[in-house]
Amino acid sequence: MDKFVVEGGYPLEGEVEVSGSKNAALPIMAATLLAPGKYRIFNVPRLRDVRTMAHLLRIIGAKVDIADHTLEIDTTLADFPEAPYELVRTMRASIYVLGPLLARFGRARVSLPGGCAWGPRPVDLHIKGMQKLGAEIDLDYGYINARSKQLTGAHIALDVASVGATGNIMMAATLAEGTTVIENAAMEPEIVNLGEFLQKMGARIHGLGTRRISIEGVPGLRPANFEVIPDRIEAGTFLVAGLITGGRITLRQAQPEHLSEVLSKLEEAGAQLSIDGSTIHLKANRPIRATHVTTAVYPGFPTDMQAQWIALMSLADGSSVVTDAIFPDRFTHVPELNRFGADIVVKNNSAFIRGVSALKGAPVTSTDLRASASLVLAALAAEGHSEVYRVYHIDRGYERIEEKLQKLGARIRREASELPY
Ligand code: UD1
Repeated sequence: MDKFVVEGGYPLEGEVEVSGSKNAALPIMAATLLAPGKYRIFNVPRLRDVRTMAHLLRIIGAKVDIADHTLEIDTTLADFPEAPYELVRTMRASIYVLGPLLARFGRARVSLPGGCAWGPRPVDLHIKGMQKLGAEIDLDYGYINARSKQLTGAHIALDVASVGATGNIMMAATLAEGTTVIENAAMEPEIVNLGEFLQKMGARIHGLGTRRISIEGVPGLRPANFEVIPDRIEAGTFLVAGLITGGRITLRQAQPEHLSEVLSKLEEAGAQLSIDGSTIHLKANRPIRATHVTTAVYPGFPTDMQAQWIALMSLADGSSVVTDAIFPDRFTHVPELNRFGADIVVKNNSAFIRGVSALKGAPVTSTDLRASASLVLAALAAEGHSEVYRVYHIDRGYERIEEKLQKLGARIRREASELPY
């Protein structure tokens, strides 16, 4: 297994291109199961999670070719509506095939994802949504078994504005008989992007990007070609890298309007920003100012940027509080950040961070995707030598992160770890 070796303490300078969004690409790939035929999906990030979803589509019977950043998917012969445990346990987003499989084949067998590194992450809203659309569901041997001859439109009010449940229900509802209304729907740009792809396939969807999405079912959909939006979390992570190292960076191919809350927090924390179309320039001012953050559903501050923000705040001039209102247990990075000399205490779903004047290099271990990103950020800012273990987590969601960071002048390299983890 690989590790990153980092010599920290150098400001990042230069330009970096934002890749396509992982969280948009994954449901879009699943949506190709809705209609048999050939699809081309552009601006797809080259990531482990994308390869995992491609593998899942192949198990189902689709042909998937990945060339550079374009996916060619042919779902004509897809005929095995099952997502096995071995795969789902490595990537929760596999649950996205539930809705499309059920809608196209009238049945689906999808492993329950189970928990993740920072706690339970239920899929009850996905299941209830399918039931509301008329599916019969039973749980057996850790699998969701879903059946329905013909899904029918329904009024579904989500208890929580879940990204995944909104996407899954929206996909299933495209082929249902009648109209489905999702209240308290997710407004995340990735769900809008998925909805636009479905519209291109012939789906009738209204209210994308609002709390109320309505889907008028159609008898059939057709294949389409589509471009994935830029990854706002990757963009935000690089901007934090610029600020935490006291650097000056330019992000190309970003979508600044998807980052408004992150950009305003970065400015509050001392970044000087200028935006020109899809380009964002960041110049770091010192000191980093202590800036509280509470995560929220879009357009609020994303939970997927919480770990990176805590890394940044560990070097701020003063104390700050970072609260995660979406995933209350998502703090496995905190003990590792403290190994760099950070002063962070977690109580309930908040991290209380007392800024320190410097971090010192250390060996640390990644526990999940965004936690790994925060450790890499801290290592880049820390004085001296760091090693970040288990970087396979970061490869799930960041395309060639060490190469992009090297282009910005970071002294980071990937090495095979001599440890068995
Ligand atoms: C997606 C993102 C993930 C991001 C999260 C929140 C993908 C592949 N992943 O995950 O990176 O951190 O949105 O922005 O897009 N919940 C339930 N029951 C359910 C589903 C969710 O109670 O059936 C709860 C969760 O426990 C959590 C909240 O709803 O507290 C939000 O989760 P959700 O939006 O569903 O996250 P994901 O779609 O899994």
